[in-house]
Order: sequence, then structure tokens, then C-alpha cells
Amino acid sequence: MNLKSHLLPEEVFSAVAKCATKINLDAYVIGGFVRDIILNRPSKDIDFVSVGSGISLAKKVAQELKCKNLSLFKNFGTAMVKYKAHELEFVGARKESYQRDSRKPIVEDGTLEDDQNRRDFTINALAIKLSDDGYGELVDPFDGVNDLKKKIIRTPLDPSITFSDDPLRMMRAIRFASQLNFDIEANTFDSIINQADRIKIVSKERIIDELNKIILSPTPSYGFKLLFQSGLLHYIFPEMIALHGVETREGKSHKDNFYHTLQVLDNISENTNYLYLRWAAILHDIAKPPTKRFHKKAGWTFHGHEDKGARMVPTIFKRMKLPMNDKMKYVQKLVKLHLRPIALVRDEITDSAIRRLLFEAGDDVDDLMTLCNADITTKNPNKVKRYLTNFKKVKQKLVELEERDKLRNFQPPISGEEIMKRYNLQPSRIVGEIKNEIREAILEGKIDNNKEQAESLMQEIAKARGLEN
Ligand code: CTP
Repeated sequence: MNLKSHLLPEEVFSAVAKCATKINLDAYVIGGFVRDIILNRPSKDIDFVSVGSGISLAKKVAQELKCKNLSLFKNFGTAMVKYKAHELEFVGARKESYQRDSRKPIVEDGTLEDDQNRRDFTINALAIKLSDDGYGELVDPFDGVNDLKKKIIRTPLDPSITFSDDPLRMMRAIRFASQLNFDIEANTFDSIINQADRIKIVSKERIIDELNKIILSPTPSYGFKLLFQSGLLHYIFPEMIALHGVETREGKSHKDNFYHTLQVLDNISENTNYLYLRWAAILHDIAKPPTKRFHKKAGWTFHGHEDKGARMVPTIFKRMKLPMNDKMKYVQKLVKLHLRPIALVRDEITDSAIRRLLFEAGDDVDDLMTLCNADITTKNPNKVKRYLTNFKKVKQKLVELEERDKLRNFQPPISGEEIMKRYNLQPSRIVGEIKNEIREAILEGKIDNNKEQAESLMQEIAKARGLEN
């Protein structure tokens, strides 16, 4: 197969070919870029492998492309040239396993075949020749193109070797399966099951990168089911394993919260590509196992799982090396509030309940509604219909009230400073209490959210407390 016409931007590949000839090396395009050409997927980063020094080739190519942006990683024998929107990575062919982010120095002493042998999957070991004799020819020793056609993830060597070279590849197998909707070949999957515990030696940062890619794939439940079946999930995310299973007592069962969570994740993925909203879906019921109780009358309950879940979010984020910043706070807020809109539709939808929700959710109220919609996983069509109709009502009310009361980014109409100045007070508890009373009156709809009405309420409160003469 010749893929010459796909080698774009053309000037990059002809420059590499020209420079390789000049310094008497064989050069190839390899890895994800070649796979993505055949899959017709866009891909920006291009990996080159040369039989001989990758660094020398990179230096020449940077000159040829008049490109100043060249980084050399001499210890690892790799180099990177940034050219327009592309990152061009150069590496010399090696006998040892290829790990882009490994800290282990490498020796570049292999043939192309050695190098292909040591890559992770047959579909990632495809190479395209760049020398004059056969420019554009595909080199596919493991039938990777056929695996792409059959939609199969398979290792080039015995999987136990490929995975023990770099155990992160077990997660990569599942990540590619989930991103591309491929199967993992039986031998390869068995080997993951056998070596799952070796994921323990991989850094948390590398693991979370792959997990986030699984979460961002089109149907993430598929990736999670593979993680579960392979045993990897037990090591990387035990809280999710705890969601699995159904308990029955006195004829009463609860739903399987693992599969429910996955359904919510798939549902939300139809409406958002925002990683942290997907994370909120994953974590919304995470505290169901530790809050589960059985009552003779009521059956199974999970009281307070939203609050406990919100408290678990920072612990999980920290352990997994997810960011401990506003993104964590956002997930925490959504977990904490995830029952509120549902509670609203069950009861009478009062204005004050809606105002409180707006006040607490702030700008994230739309995302909260997206999460709650995704949380409707009942198979009973009547229930679904009732929920959805009620949700519509809540949404409409949210819009109406927001327009009128502007509570999303609530700023107290009278500040603490103003209260102190007016009544000659030092910073003290009473100032906070007055502010709270005003806020409560606004949320309850007793007064409107404006300065004038807040002023007169403040005067009343002050009088009652003996501050106004
Ligand atoms: N590779 C490998 N083992 C790893 C990581 C990478 O064998 N643990 C090889 C594969 O040949 C892979 C190439 O290095 O195709 C580039 O790796 P990377 O950029 O991580 O993945 P891509 O395949 O390019 O896919 P994506 O860009 O979607 O991550």
C-alpha cells in the first residue's frame, strides 16, 4: 500500500526524506499518525523513527524547514521540532521498549523491525517509508491494517512481554478500544487480567491521563466496563468498585449503582464534552455505599450521600492527581446539589426553593440541570415522561426567576461595610446576622433583590434589635 498522497503537510515529509538521504539514514513515519491516516482521523503530532541518530536528523530537518523551535533530549535520544501547529518527534530506532514519557535513558541501536516489535499495539506499529526507494510505502509486519479493519487491539509480541515492558499499556489498550470502539483481542485481554496488579508501579499522572481519555471517549461506559472486567479498576478506583452489586433483604433490592453511574455517564456524554461535568456524573453517587442502610419499612436508603459524596471529592481528586482547584470545587458543588432539582420536581415547585437553588448553584445551574437530566435512568416510560415534564417546568421557572431576581451571582444589596458605617458598628456577629436576614428575605421572596427594599428591611431589623433610634 502506498500512502504518499496522505503525507501532509507535504513540505514536512519531503524535508525529512531529503535530510535523511543527506546524512545517509533510513527514516520512517510511525505510530499514531500512520494509524490515523488509515482511520481517516485528524492528527497533528507526527512521530519519525530513523535507523541511526534521531537527534541528527531532527537538527537537519529544523534547518531545512527554517524552524528555530528545536528541543533536544539527549539522554533519551529524542528531539522535537515545532512546525506550525505540528509537533514533529524524532527518535532513533531502538531494541528496547518505546516509552515516550519514560525517565529511563535509552539506547538507539535497533533496526526498524526491532523498533516495531517493541511498540504497544499492531495498529500503532505501522510505519511509512520516507527514503527515495519506496517513498510512501507502508511497512506493516504485524498485519496492523487488517486489525484496523477488524477493529481489534492486539500487541505485536506476546502480550505478557509488551505489558511487562510498560504496564501503562494495559490502560492504553482499553483507552484505544474505548476511543475507537474496538475490541481487545482475547489473548491480549487475558494478559491484562493476569498482570492487572502491575499497574501499581505506574505513576498516577500517567494513569489519570489515560483515564481522562477514556472518560472523554464517545461511550465511556465501554472503557469502564473493560477496566472493571480486567481488574484494573480495582487498583485505580476502588470507590467505583464499591458501587457494584445489588443487595437484597426481605425481598427488597436496590439498583446496581455501578451500572447506573455508567448509564448516567453515557447519558451526559451525549450532551457535553466537558471533562469535569463528566467527572461529576461519575462521582454523583459515589457515597452511596458508605451511606447505605436497610429499614424494615422503607427498604434501602442512602441518606446524605450527596453531602458525603461532596466530601469525598477532594480525597479522590488528590489521590488521582486531578487538579485541586476550581475544577474540583465545581465537581464538588454538582455532587452536593445533584438531588436538588429532582427534589424540586417531586414537591410543589415553589419560588423560594428555585431561588435557593439559583443562589447555591450560581453559574453552574445549567450544568446541574444537565447532570440531573442524565440521572434519569429509569426504564419506566411513564416515570421518565413525568420527570422530563417537571424538569421543563423547573427550567422555565429558573429562567423566569433569574431574569427577575438576578440571583445567579448573588451580591448582597447592602454590604457589611455599609451596615457597620450606618450603625457605627465594629466587625461583629450582628453585622453578619443582619446580612443573613436580608438574604433570607430575598430568597424567601419577602422582599425583592434591590437596594431600596433591602434598606427598609435593614431599618426594621435594626429597630427590632435596638440599633435604630
Ligand atoms: N508507544 C508505545 N508504548 C507506550 C506509549 C507509546 O509503544 N506506552 C508508541 C506507539 O507506537 C504510539 C507512539 O508511541 O503510537 C506514540 O505515542 P502517543 O503519542 O502516546 O500515542 P498515539 O498513538 O500517537 O495516540 P494519541 O495521540 O491518541 O495519544
